[in-house]
Amino acid sequence: MTADDSQSSTSEPLVLGIETSCDETGVGIVRGRTLLADAVASSVTEHARFGGVVPEIASRAHLEAMTPTLQRACDDAGVALSDIDAVAVTGGPGLVGALLVGTSSAQALAWAIDKPLYAVNHLAAHVAVDQLEHGPLPEPSVALLVSGGHTSLLLVADIATDITSLGTTLDDAAGEAFDKVARVLGLPFPGGPEIDRVAQDGKITIEFPRGLTGARDMAEHRFDFSFSGLKTAVARWVEAREKSGEPVPVADVAAAFQEAVVDVLVNKALDACADRGVDHLMIGGGVAANSRLRALALSRGEAAGITLRVPRPGLCTDNGAMVAALGSAMVSKGVAPTGLAFRAESSLPVEQVGVRSLG
Ligand code: KG4
Ligand code: ZN
Repeated sequence: MTADDSQSSTSEPLVLGIETSCDETGVGIVRGRTLLADAVASSVTEHARFGGVVPEIASRAHLEAMTPTLQRACDDAGVALSDIDAVAVTGGPGLVGALLVGTSSAQALAWAIDKPLYAVNHLAAHVAVDQLEHGPLPEPSVALLVSGGHTSLLLVADIATDITSLGTTLDDAAGEAFDKVARVLGLPFPGGPEIDRVAQDGKITIEFPRGLTGARDMAEHRFDFSFSGLKTAVARWVEAREKSGEPVPVADVAAAFQEAVVDVLVNKALDACADRGVDHLMIGGGVAANSRLRALALSRGEAAGITLRVPRPGLCTDNGAMVAALGSAMVSKGVAPTGLAFRAESSLPVEQVGVRSLG
């Protein structure tokens, strides 16, 4: 990274990003690739007793949190709304009611300050956020995106315009598997951070299955993932233990489960790098906060001559800075704004970096 890459210049655009696709209300502000504010309000504790995100609760919480979070971001960045050059917002994928709070807020804001509006893909934003920490993403790069709703291997030729899907999960997302297995182990929601924490004291003595890694599966699904078989294997193992009257070694089960997920994620991501002749691997999304995933990707990546780029954990989980980062990349690459006329798309495909304009 050169000195210029990390320095803020007032000639670079000031972009505000809004994220409301799931249970985090995020407002981030960047100038170019420099992060100025990252305000996040989470409704996660309101969902905990239901064991998963309840869409209506999330939407209501976004409504309540939007104005104070916007205010906090402006205060943290030391800017007024009138200073903003462009507004970016998550247009999808995500919970439609939750997305609507963000997109309506962004439309109102962009209209009020008369500035361009970019409706962007949440998944691409998880990749773009890394530019705030590590400078421009070498293109092409391979990105492994692992969150509560998605597991994707991507070839990123241009973060603002050109993302190709190499593979995806055939069933559960990686984060979903963490959350479901945590429940089986009696750990609270969201389960990923809990499993990460308890696994630190565990020993890997159980060998759980690695989905889609057999020779036959690899022929057809080399870069795809499957976690439902693993989840069932863990549930059966725990059930058998409980039936036998012996205590369940929660830390050991968590460590063995985590290893099975992380082993497959890292191997397939590095295989994709080798296949595409790419020497940079970016890992993003909530599960990229996992300490074992970070450590294993770093060590196996080093051995394979692949440079790893992973944002700090706080930028891996949902936030507004990632949306601002992608919006800023679009502005600097001269991508046309979406404008005010667009629809939030709950199943926006990963390859569509920007939402279609209806204007
Ligand atoms: O990206 P994210 O914040 O929201 C979505 O877009 O889904 O990801 C949330 C997911 C949850 O499933 C959560 O359990 C998981 O990321 N997660 C983790 C860790 N921190 C968050 N999974 C494993 N280890 C972690 N440390
Ligand atoms: Zn996410």
